[in-house]
Amino acid sequence: MLEFLEQKWLIDLIYLGSVLLFIFGIKNLSSPRTARKGNALSLTGMLIAVAVTLLDPVIIEHMRFDIIVPALFVGSLVGLIMAKKVKMTGMPQMVALLNGFGGIASALVAIAEYYENPATSADDTVHFITLVASIVVGSLTFVGSVVAFAKLQGLMPGRPMMVKSSKPINVILLLAVIVFGVLLGRSPQAEEYALAIAGIGSILGYTLVVPIGGADMPVVISLLNSYSGIAVALTGFVLKNNALIVVGSLVGASGIILTNIMCKGMNRSLTNVLFGGFGSDSTTGGEGGAVTGTVKSASPEEAGMILDMAESVIIVPGYGMAVSQAQHVVKSLATLLESRGANVRFAIHPVAGRMPGHMNVLLAEAGVDYDKLVEMERINDDFKNTDVAIVIGANDVVNPAAKNNPNSPIYGMPVLNVEEAKTVLVLKRSLNPGFAGIDNELFYKDNTLMVFGDAKKTVEEMIAALEELGD
Ligand code: TAP
Repeated sequence: MLEFLEQKWLIDLIYLGSVLLFIFGIKNLSSPRTARKGNALSLTGMLIAVAVTLLDPVIIEHMRFDIIVPALFVGSLVGLIMAKKVKMTGMPQMVALLNGFGGIASALVAIAEYYENPATSADDTVHFITLVASIVVGSLTFVGSVVAFAKLQGLMPGRPMMVKSSKPINVILLLAVIVFGVLLGRSPQAEEYALAIAGIGSILGYTLVVPIGGADMPVVISLLNSYSGIAVALTGFVLKNNALIVVGSLVGASGIILTNIMCKGMNRSLTNVLFGGFGSDSTTGGEGGAVTGTVKSASPEEAGMILDMAESVIIVPGYGMAVSQAQHVVKSLATLLESRGANVRFAIHPVAGRMPGHMNVLLAEAGVDYDKLVEMERINDDFKNTDVAIVIGANDVVNPAAKNNPNSPIYGMPVLNVEEAKTVLVLKRSLNPGFAGIDNELFYKDNTLMVFGDAKKTVEEMIAALEELGD
Protein backbone atom coordinates (compact mmCIF):
# COMPACT_ATOMS: atom_id res chain seq x y z
CA MET A 1 0.00 0.00 0.00
CA LEU A 2 2.85 2.33 0.81
CA GLU A 3 5.02 1.40 -2.17
CA PHE A 4 4.72 4.91 -3.54
CA LEU A 5 6.72 6.12 -0.52
CA GLU A 6 9.66 4.01 -1.67
CA GLN A 7 10.53 6.88 -3.98
CA LYS A 8 13.04 8.96 -2.01
CA TRP A 9 12.20 12.07 -4.06
CA LEU A 10 8.56 11.78 -3.00
CA ILE A 11 9.46 11.62 0.68
CA ASP A 12 11.74 14.63 0.22
CA LEU A 13 8.94 16.48 -1.57
CA ILE A 14 6.56 15.86 1.35
CA TYR A 15 9.30 16.94 3.78
CA LEU A 16 9.69 20.11 1.71
CA GLY A 17 5.94 20.73 2.13
CA SER A 18 6.21 20.41 5.90
CA VAL A 19 9.29 22.68 5.96
CA LEU A 20 7.31 25.32 4.04
CA LEU A 21 4.56 25.02 6.65
CA PHE A 22 7.18 25.63 9.39
CA ILE A 23 8.48 28.71 7.56
CA PHE A 24 5.00 30.20 7.14
CA GLY A 25 4.27 29.19 10.73
CA ILE A 26 7.26 31.16 12.03
CA LYS A 27 6.31 34.10 9.82
CA ASN A 28 2.81 34.14 11.31
CA LEU A 29 4.18 33.92 14.86
CA SER A 30 5.69 37.39 14.42
CA SER A 31 2.37 39.09 15.23
CA PRO A 32 -0.11 38.28 18.04
CA ARG A 33 -2.92 38.62 15.49
CA THR A 34 -1.66 35.71 13.36
CA ALA A 35 0.17 33.72 16.07
CA ARG A 36 -2.57 31.09 16.46
CA LYS A 37 -2.55 30.49 12.70
CA GLY A 38 1.26 30.21 12.86
CA ASN A 39 0.98 27.57 15.57
CA ALA A 40 -1.61 25.63 13.55
CA LEU A 41 0.56 25.71 10.41
CA SER A 42 3.66 24.52 12.28
CA LEU A 43 1.66 21.80 14.03
CA THR A 44 0.37 20.55 10.67
CA GLY A 45 3.93 20.59 9.28
CA MET A 46 5.15 18.55 12.26
CA LEU A 47 2.29 16.02 11.96
CA ILE A 48 3.04 15.49 8.26
CA ALA A 49 6.79 15.11 8.92
CA VAL A 50 6.23 12.57 11.74
CA ALA A 51 3.68 10.59 9.68
CA VAL A 52 5.90 10.42 6.57
CA THR A 53 8.90 9.39 8.67
CA LEU A 54 6.93 6.60 10.33
CA LEU A 55 5.48 5.40 7.02
CA ASP A 56 8.80 5.44 5.14
CA PRO A 57 9.24 1.77 4.05
CA VAL A 58 12.99 1.90 4.86
CA ILE A 59 12.14 2.93 8.39
CA ILE A 60 9.16 0.59 8.74
CA GLU A 61 11.55 -2.32 8.17
CA HIS A 62 13.53 -1.44 11.29
CA MET A 63 10.73 -0.12 13.45
CA ARG A 64 9.23 -1.52 16.61
CA PHE A 65 5.73 -0.09 16.42
CA ASP A 66 4.85 -1.87 19.67
CA ILE A 67 7.27 0.57 21.36
CA ILE A 68 6.75 3.62 19.15
CA VAL A 69 2.95 3.85 19.37
CA PRO A 70 2.77 3.78 23.22
CA ALA A 71 5.76 6.17 23.35
CA LEU A 72 3.98 8.60 20.99
CA PHE A 73 0.83 8.32 23.10
CA VAL A 74 2.62 8.90 26.44
CA GLY A 75 4.73 11.77 25.01
CA SER A 76 1.69 13.50 23.53
CA LEU A 77 -0.28 13.09 26.76
CA VAL A 78 2.55 14.51 28.90
CA GLY A 79 2.91 17.45 26.46
CA LEU A 80 -0.82 18.11 26.53
CA ILE A 81 -0.99 18.08 30.34
CA MET A 82 2.09 20.33 30.63
CA ALA A 83 0.66 22.83 28.13
CA LYS A 84 -2.77 22.90 29.83
CA LYS A 85 -1.38 23.24 33.36
CA VAL A 86 1.43 25.73 32.84
CA LYS A 87 0.79 29.23 34.15
CA MET A 88 1.81 32.17 31.96
CA THR A 89 4.53 33.06 34.50
CA GLY A 90 5.90 29.48 34.27
CA MET A 91 6.23 29.56 30.47
CA PRO A 92 10.04 30.20 30.40
CA GLN A 93 10.60 27.06 32.53
CA MET A 94 8.44 24.99 30.21
CA VAL A 95 10.26 26.24 27.12
CA ALA A 96 13.56 25.41 28.87
CA LEU A 97 12.42 21.82 29.43
CA LEU A 98 11.17 21.43 25.86
CA ASN A 99 14.54 22.66 24.51
CA GLY A 100 16.21 20.13 26.79
CA PHE A 101 14.06 17.32 25.39
CA GLY A 102 15.10 18.36 21.85
CA GLY A 103 18.75 18.22 22.90
CA ILE A 104 18.57 14.83 24.58
CA ALA A 105 16.60 13.37 21.63
CA SER A 106 19.36 14.47 19.22
CA ALA A 107 22.12 13.11 21.47
CA LEU A 108 20.32 9.77 21.90
CA VAL A 109 19.72 9.38 18.16
CA ALA A 110 23.41 10.09 17.48
CA ILE A 111 24.49 7.58 20.18
CA ALA A 112 22.07 4.98 18.73
CA GLU A 113 23.55 5.61 15.26
CA TYR A 114 27.03 5.03 16.70
CA TYR A 115 25.99 1.75 18.39
CA GLU A 116 24.27 0.62 15.19
CA ASN A 117 27.59 0.48 13.41
CA PRO A 118 30.64 1.87 15.22
CA ALA A 119 33.10 0.96 12.48
CA THR A 120 31.21 2.71 9.65
CA SER A 121 30.60 5.66 11.95
CA ALA A 122 34.34 6.31 12.05
CA ASP A 123 34.96 5.48 8.37
CA ASP A 124 33.59 8.68 6.96
CA THR A 125 35.32 11.67 8.62
CA VAL A 126 32.55 14.23 8.01
CA HIS A 127 29.90 11.80 9.22
CA PHE A 128 32.01 11.00 12.28
CA ILE A 129 32.60 14.66 13.22
CA THR A 130 28.89 15.50 12.91
CA LEU A 131 28.05 12.45 15.01
CA VAL A 132 30.42 13.53 17.81
CA ALA A 133 29.20 17.15 17.55
CA SER A 134 25.59 15.97 17.71
CA ILE A 135 26.30 14.01 20.92
CA VAL A 136 28.12 16.98 22.52
CA VAL A 137 25.66 19.73 21.52
CA GLY A 138 22.65 17.53 22.34
CA SER A 139 23.84 16.55 25.83
CA LEU A 140 25.06 20.11 26.54
CA THR A 141 21.64 21.50 25.55
CA PHE A 142 19.85 18.96 27.73
CA VAL A 143 21.82 19.60 30.93
CA GLY A 144 22.03 23.39 30.31
CA SER A 145 18.24 23.51 29.87
CA VAL A 146 17.65 21.48 33.04
CA VAL A 147 19.89 23.92 34.98
CA ALA A 148 17.97 26.88 33.47
CA PHE A 149 14.69 25.20 34.48
CA ALA A 150 15.97 24.55 38.03
CA LYS A 151 17.14 28.17 38.44
CA LEU A 152 13.83 29.61 37.28
CA GLN A 153 11.80 27.13 39.33
CA GLY A 154 13.78 28.00 42.48
CA LEU A 155 15.19 24.44 42.75
CA MET A 156 18.71 25.90 42.44
CA PRO A 157 20.03 29.26 43.68
CA GLY A 158 19.33 31.94 41.05
CA ARG A 159 22.59 33.81 41.74
CA PRO A 160 25.52 33.40 39.33
CA MET A 161 27.83 30.61 40.52
CA MET A 162 31.38 29.62 39.41
CA VAL A 163 31.59 32.93 37.50
CA LYS A 164 35.42 32.98 37.34
CA SER A 165 36.27 29.27 37.51
CA SER A 166 33.83 28.23 34.76
CA LYS A 167 35.84 29.79 31.90
CA PRO A 168 39.06 27.72 32.33
CA ILE A 169 36.94 24.65 33.13
CA ASN A 170 35.00 25.11 29.87
CA VAL A 171 38.23 25.35 27.87
CA ILE A 172 39.54 22.13 29.49
CA LEU A 173 36.23 20.37 28.79
CA LEU A 174 36.28 21.45 25.14
CA LEU A 175 39.83 20.15 24.77
CA ALA A 176 38.77 16.88 26.45
CA VAL A 177 35.96 16.48 23.86
CA ILE A 178 38.51 16.82 21.06
CA VAL A 179 40.88 14.31 22.73
CA PHE A 180 38.13 11.71 23.26
CA GLY A 181 36.82 12.38 19.74
CA VAL A 182 40.26 11.56 18.28
CA LEU A 183 40.54 8.46 20.51
CA LEU A 184 37.10 7.29 19.39
CA GLY A 185 38.03 7.88 15.75
CA ARG A 186 41.10 5.65 16.21
CA SER A 187 39.27 2.91 18.12
CA PRO A 188 35.66 3.08 16.94
CA GLN A 189 34.68 -0.02 18.93
CA ALA A 190 35.68 1.55 22.28
CA GLU A 191 32.23 2.66 23.38
CA GLU A 192 33.59 4.10 26.64
CA TYR A 193 35.00 7.00 24.58
CA ALA A 194 31.56 7.71 23.06
CA LEU A 195 29.98 7.69 26.53
CA ALA A 196 32.79 9.92 27.86
CA ILE A 197 31.99 12.45 25.10
CA ALA A 198 28.32 12.46 26.16
CA GLY A 199 29.39 12.87 29.82
CA ILE A 200 31.74 15.79 29.06
CA GLY A 201 29.01 17.46 26.94
CA SER A 202 26.66 17.19 29.93
CA ILE A 203 29.21 18.73 32.34
CA LEU A 204 29.78 21.50 29.79
CA GLY A 205 26.02 22.22 29.80
CA TYR A 206 26.23 22.67 33.59
CA THR A 207 29.36 24.85 33.63
CA LEU A 208 28.07 27.06 30.80
CA VAL A 209 24.74 27.87 32.50
CA VAL A 210 25.46 28.01 36.29
CA PRO A 211 27.49 31.26 36.05
CA ILE A 212 24.43 33.05 34.65
CA GLY A 213 21.99 34.78 37.02
CA GLY A 214 18.42 33.45 37.29
CA ALA A 215 16.90 36.61 35.85
CA ASP A 216 19.01 36.30 32.69
CA MET A 217 17.67 32.80 32.08
CA PRO A 218 15.16 33.87 29.36
CA VAL A 219 18.08 34.97 27.17
CA VAL A 220 19.92 31.73 27.95
CA ILE A 221 16.81 29.70 27.15
CA SER A 222 16.54 31.41 23.78
CA LEU A 223 20.22 30.59 23.16
CA LEU A 224 19.69 26.97 24.25
CA ASN A 225 16.75 26.88 21.87
CA SER A 226 19.19 27.78 19.14
CA TYR A 227 21.58 25.03 20.34
CA SER A 228 18.76 22.47 20.27
CA GLY A 229 18.15 23.46 16.62
CA ILE A 230 21.84 23.02 15.83
CA ALA A 231 21.79 19.59 17.53
CA VAL A 232 18.78 18.59 15.40
CA ALA A 233 20.47 19.81 12.19
CA LEU A 234 23.63 17.84 13.08
CA THR A 235 21.50 14.75 13.70
CA GLY A 236 19.95 15.38 10.28
CA PHE A 237 23.43 15.17 8.71
CA VAL A 238 24.13 11.97 10.68
CA LEU A 239 20.88 10.36 9.50
CA LYS A 240 21.01 12.03 6.06
CA ASN A 241 17.51 13.38 6.72
CA ASN A 242 16.79 16.63 4.85
CA ALA A 243 13.79 17.59 6.97
CA LEU A 244 15.88 17.48 10.17
CA ILE A 245 18.66 19.51 8.55
CA VAL A 246 16.34 22.27 7.34
CA VAL A 247 14.13 22.41 10.46
CA GLY A 248 17.15 22.28 12.78
CA SER A 249 18.76 25.17 10.89
CA LEU A 250 15.50 27.14 11.08
CA VAL A 251 15.32 26.68 14.86
CA GLY A 252 19.04 27.38 15.25
CA ALA A 253 18.81 30.62 13.24
CA SER A 254 15.56 31.91 14.77
CA GLY A 255 16.86 31.15 18.29
CA ILE A 256 19.99 33.20 17.71
CA ILE A 257 18.00 36.07 16.14
CA LEU A 258 15.66 36.14 19.17
CA THR A 259 18.66 36.07 21.54
CA ASN A 260 20.08 39.04 19.68
CA ILE A 261 16.78 40.97 19.86
CA MET A 262 16.60 40.36 23.63
CA CYS A 263 20.21 41.49 24.16
CA LYS A 264 19.58 44.65 22.10
CA GLY A 265 16.42 45.40 24.11
CA MET A 266 18.51 45.22 27.29
CA ASN A 267 21.41 47.10 25.67
CA ARG A 268 23.80 44.28 26.60
CA SER A 269 26.11 42.12 24.58
CA LEU A 270 25.65 38.35 24.54
CA THR A 271 29.11 38.03 26.14
CA ASN A 272 27.94 40.22 29.01
CA VAL A 273 24.85 38.04 29.51
CA LEU A 274 26.85 34.80 29.37
CA PHE A 275 29.92 35.84 31.36
CA GLY A 276 28.93 39.06 33.17
CA GLY A 277 27.40 37.48 36.28
CA PHE A 278 24.63 40.12 35.99
CA GLY A 279 21.02 39.90 37.20
CA SER A 280 21.58 37.65 40.18
CA ASP A 281 17.92 37.54 41.01
CA SER A 282 14.67 38.95 39.76
CA THR A 283 14.54 41.82 42.22
CA THR A 284 17.97 42.37 43.67
CA GLY A 285 21.57 42.96 42.84
CA GLY A 286 23.33 45.28 40.46
CA GLU A 287 24.51 48.79 41.20
CA GLY A 288 23.64 52.23 40.01
CA GLY A 289 23.64 55.74 41.39
CA ALA A 290 21.23 55.87 44.34
CA VAL A 291 18.50 58.40 43.67
CA THR A 292 17.33 60.70 46.46
CA GLY A 293 14.41 63.12 46.62
CA THR A 294 10.81 63.28 47.66
CA VAL A 295 8.35 60.66 46.64
CA LYS A 296 4.68 61.60 46.36
CA SER A 297 2.14 58.87 46.82
CA ALA A 298 -1.58 58.67 46.12
CA SER A 299 -4.35 56.32 47.16
CA PRO A 300 -6.20 54.29 44.53
CA GLU A 301 -9.20 56.61 45.13
CA GLU A 302 -7.07 59.68 44.34
CA ALA A 303 -5.69 57.89 41.27
CA GLY A 304 -9.32 57.21 40.23
CA MET A 305 -10.10 60.93 40.51
CA ILE A 306 -7.11 61.84 38.31
CA LEU A 307 -8.25 59.33 35.69
CA ASP A 308 -11.77 60.77 35.88
CA MET A 309 -10.44 63.92 34.17
CA ALA A 310 -8.13 62.18 31.68
CA GLU A 311 -8.87 62.27 27.96
CA SER A 312 -5.79 60.34 26.88
CA VAL A 313 -4.21 57.45 28.81
CA ILE A 314 -1.25 55.19 28.03
CA ILE A 315 -0.94 52.03 30.13
CA VAL A 316 2.62 50.66 30.51
CA PRO A 317 2.60 47.06 31.74
CA GLY A 318 5.70 45.35 33.18
CA TYR A 319 6.83 42.27 35.05
CA GLY A 320 4.78 43.20 38.17
CA MET A 321 1.55 42.94 36.17
CA ALA A 322 2.47 39.33 35.37
CA VAL A 323 3.37 38.62 39.01
CA SER A 324 0.07 39.93 40.33
CA GLN A 325 -1.87 38.47 37.36
CA ALA A 326 -3.55 41.85 36.92
CA GLN A 327 -4.09 41.63 33.16
CA HIS A 328 -7.86 41.01 33.36
CA VAL A 329 -8.55 43.92 35.73
CA VAL A 330 -6.23 46.11 33.64
CA LYS A 331 -8.37 45.31 30.61
CA SER A 332 -11.51 46.20 32.67
CA LEU A 333 -9.92 49.52 33.65
CA ALA A 334 -9.11 50.29 30.00
CA THR A 335 -12.68 49.44 28.92
CA LEU A 336 -14.12 51.60 31.70
CA LEU A 337 -11.92 54.57 30.75
CA GLU A 338 -12.89 54.19 27.10
CA SER A 339 -16.57 54.06 28.00
CA ARG A 340 -16.01 57.42 29.70
CA GLY A 341 -14.56 58.86 26.47
CA ALA A 342 -10.82 58.52 27.06
CA ASN A 343 -8.41 57.35 24.36
CA VAL A 344 -6.59 54.37 25.90
CA ARG A 345 -3.54 52.55 24.49
CA PHE A 346 -0.91 50.16 25.81
CA ALA A 347 2.80 50.86 25.37
CA ILE A 348 4.76 47.64 24.89
CA HIS A 349 8.49 47.60 25.58
CA PRO A 350 10.34 44.73 23.78
CA VAL A 351 11.82 43.34 27.03
CA ALA A 352 9.05 44.20 29.52
CA GLY A 353 8.45 41.18 31.75
CA ARG A 354 10.70 38.16 31.58
CA MET A 355 10.25 36.62 28.16
CA PRO A 356 9.75 37.85 24.61
CA GLY A 357 6.17 38.92 24.00
CA HIS A 358 5.32 38.47 27.71
CA MET A 359 3.02 41.52 27.88
CA ASN A 360 1.40 40.84 24.48
CA VAL A 361 0.52 37.31 25.54
CA LEU A 362 -0.96 38.34 28.90
CA LEU A 363 -2.99 41.20 27.46
CA ALA A 364 -4.17 39.10 24.51
CA GLU A 365 -5.26 36.43 27.02
CA ALA A 366 -7.30 39.13 28.79
CA GLY A 367 -8.96 40.06 25.48
CA VAL A 368 -7.26 43.41 24.83
CA ASP A 369 -7.60 44.36 21.17
CA TYR A 370 -4.25 43.92 19.30
CA ASP A 371 -4.62 47.39 17.80
CA LYS A 372 -4.37 48.87 21.29
CA LEU A 373 -0.94 47.28 21.86
CA VAL A 374 1.57 49.76 20.49
CA GLU A 375 5.28 49.08 20.23
CA MET A 376 7.77 51.42 21.91
CA GLU A 377 9.08 53.10 18.76
CA ARG A 378 5.57 53.95 17.59
CA ILE A 379 4.25 55.35 20.88
CA ASN A 380 7.27 57.00 22.49
CA ASP A 381 6.63 60.41 20.90
CA ASP A 382 3.00 60.40 22.08
CA PHE A 383 3.67 60.52 25.83
CA LYS A 384 4.19 64.29 25.72
CA ASN A 385 0.61 64.72 24.48
CA THR A 386 -0.88 62.31 27.01
CA ASP A 387 -2.79 63.21 30.18
CA VAL A 388 -1.97 60.13 32.27
CA ALA A 389 0.59 57.33 31.91
CA ILE A 390 -0.25 54.38 34.19
CA VAL A 391 2.84 52.27 34.86
CA ILE A 392 1.69 48.87 36.11
CA GLY A 393 4.48 46.79 37.66
CA ALA A 394 7.09 48.13 35.23
CA ASN A 395 10.36 49.61 36.44
CA ASP A 396 13.53 49.29 34.33
CA VAL A 397 11.70 49.84 31.04
CA VAL A 398 10.55 53.29 32.25
CA ASN A 399 13.77 54.35 34.02
CA PRO A 400 14.97 57.71 32.59
CA ALA A 401 18.50 56.90 33.85
CA ALA A 402 18.85 54.81 30.68
CA LYS A 403 18.77 58.12 28.78
CA ASN A 404 20.49 60.59 31.09
CA ASN A 405 22.89 58.78 33.45
CA PRO A 406 26.00 57.50 31.63
CA ASN A 407 27.07 55.71 34.85
CA SER A 408 23.90 53.67 35.04
CA PRO A 409 24.22 49.95 34.15
CA ILE A 410 21.20 50.36 31.86
CA TYR A 411 22.51 53.51 30.13
CA GLY A 412 21.73 53.24 26.43
CA MET A 413 18.85 50.78 26.83
CA PRO A 414 15.84 52.12 24.92
CA VAL A 415 13.08 53.05 27.41
CA LEU A 416 9.54 54.40 27.33
CA ASN A 417 9.27 58.21 27.75
CA VAL A 418 6.55 58.00 30.43
CA GLU A 419 7.91 60.98 32.39
CA GLU A 420 6.78 63.22 29.49
CA ALA A 421 3.09 62.57 30.26
CA LYS A 422 1.27 65.26 32.28
CA THR A 423 0.77 62.84 35.20
CA VAL A 424 2.44 59.48 35.79
CA LEU A 425 0.79 56.95 38.10
CA VAL A 426 3.22 54.18 39.13
CA LEU A 427 1.55 51.08 40.57
CA LYS A 428 3.95 48.87 42.54
CA ARG A 429 4.36 47.61 46.07
CA SER A 430 7.42 49.59 47.17
CA LEU A 431 10.34 51.65 45.88
CA ASN A 432 12.28 48.43 45.36
CA PRO A 433 14.26 48.11 42.13
CA GLY A 434 13.39 45.79 39.30
CA PHE A 435 15.50 43.27 37.38
CA ALA A 436 18.53 45.55 36.88
CA GLY A 437 18.69 46.27 40.62
CA ILE A 438 18.88 50.06 40.28
CA ASP A 439 16.90 53.00 41.65
CA ASN A 440 14.45 54.73 39.38
CA GLU A 441 14.44 58.52 39.27
CA LEU A 442 10.97 58.43 37.73
CA PHE A 443 9.55 57.77 41.21
CA TYR A 444 10.92 61.14 42.42
CA LYS A 445 9.68 63.30 39.54
CA ASP A 446 7.26 66.16 40.25
CA ASN A 447 4.59 64.74 37.95
CA THR A 448 4.83 61.18 39.34
CA LEU A 449 2.48 59.73 41.93
CA MET A 450 3.27 56.34 43.44
CA VAL A 451 0.21 54.17 44.12
CA PHE A 452 1.65 51.53 46.44
CA GLY A 453 0.21 48.01 46.64
CA ASP A 454 -0.29 44.82 44.69
CA ALA A 455 -1.09 45.81 41.10
CA LYS A 456 -4.28 43.73 40.82
CA LYS A 457 -5.75 45.01 44.08
CA THR A 458 -4.81 48.62 43.29
CA VAL A 459 -6.40 48.50 39.83
CA GLU A 460 -9.57 46.95 41.31
CA GLU A 461 -9.76 49.80 43.82
CA MET A 462 -9.15 52.39 41.10
CA ILE A 463 -12.02 50.87 39.07
CA ALA A 464 -14.30 51.00 42.14
CA ALA A 465 -13.34 54.65 42.74
CA LEU A 466 -14.01 55.58 39.10
CA GLU A 467 -17.37 53.80 39.12
CA GLU A 468 -18.34 55.62 42.28
CA LEU A 469 -17.62 58.94 40.58
CA GLY A 470 -20.24 58.08 37.95
CA ASP A 471 -20.16 59.36 34.35
P1 TAP B 1 11.29 45.12 36.31
O1 TAP B 1 12.23 46.24 36.01
O2 TAP B 1 11.85 43.80 36.64
O3 TAP B 1 10.35 45.63 37.49
C1 TAP B 1 9.24 44.91 37.88
C2 TAP B 1 8.63 45.63 39.06
O4 TAP B 1 7.40 44.97 39.34
C3 TAP B 1 9.44 45.55 40.32
O5 TAP B 1 10.16 46.75 40.57
C4 TAP B 1 8.41 45.25 41.42
O6 TAP B 1 8.40 46.32 42.37
C5 TAP B 1 7.09 45.24 40.67
N1 TAP B 1 6.20 44.19 41.15
C6 TAP B 1 6.49 42.90 41.44
N2 TAP B 1 5.41 42.26 41.90
C7 TAP B 1 4.39 43.16 41.88
C8 TAP B 1 3.03 43.11 42.24
N3 TAP B 1 2.46 41.99 42.71
N4 TAP B 1 2.27 44.23 42.10
C9 TAP B 1 2.84 45.37 41.65
N5 TAP B 1 4.13 45.48 41.30
C10 TAP B 1 4.89 44.38 41.42
O7 TAP B 1 10.25 44.88 35.12
P2 TAP B 1 10.14 45.55 33.69
O8 TAP B 1 10.03 47.04 33.80
O9 TAP B 1 9.06 44.78 33.00
O10 TAP B 1 11.54 45.27 33.01
C11 TAP B 1 11.92 43.99 32.62
C12 TAP B 1 13.36 43.74 33.01
O11 TAP B 1 13.65 42.35 32.82
C13 TAP B 1 14.34 44.55 32.17
O12 TAP B 1 15.44 44.96 32.94
C14 TAP B 1 14.78 43.53 31.13
O13 TAP B 1 16.06 43.82 30.61
C15 TAP B 1 14.79 42.26 31.97
N6 TAP B 1 14.67 41.03 31.15
C16 TAP B 1 13.66 40.93 30.26
C17 TAP B 1 13.57 39.81 29.44
C18 TAP B 1 12.47 39.74 28.45
S1 TAP B 1 12.73 38.94 27.10
N7 TAP B 1 11.33 40.32 28.65
C19 TAP B 1 14.50 38.78 29.59
C20 TAP B 1 15.49 38.90 30.56
C21 TAP B 1 15.56 40.04 31.33
P3 TAP B 1 7.88 46.06 43.87
O14 TAP B 1 8.67 44.94 44.41
O15 TAP B 1 8.12 47.36 44.54
O16 TAP B 1 6.42 45.76 43.77
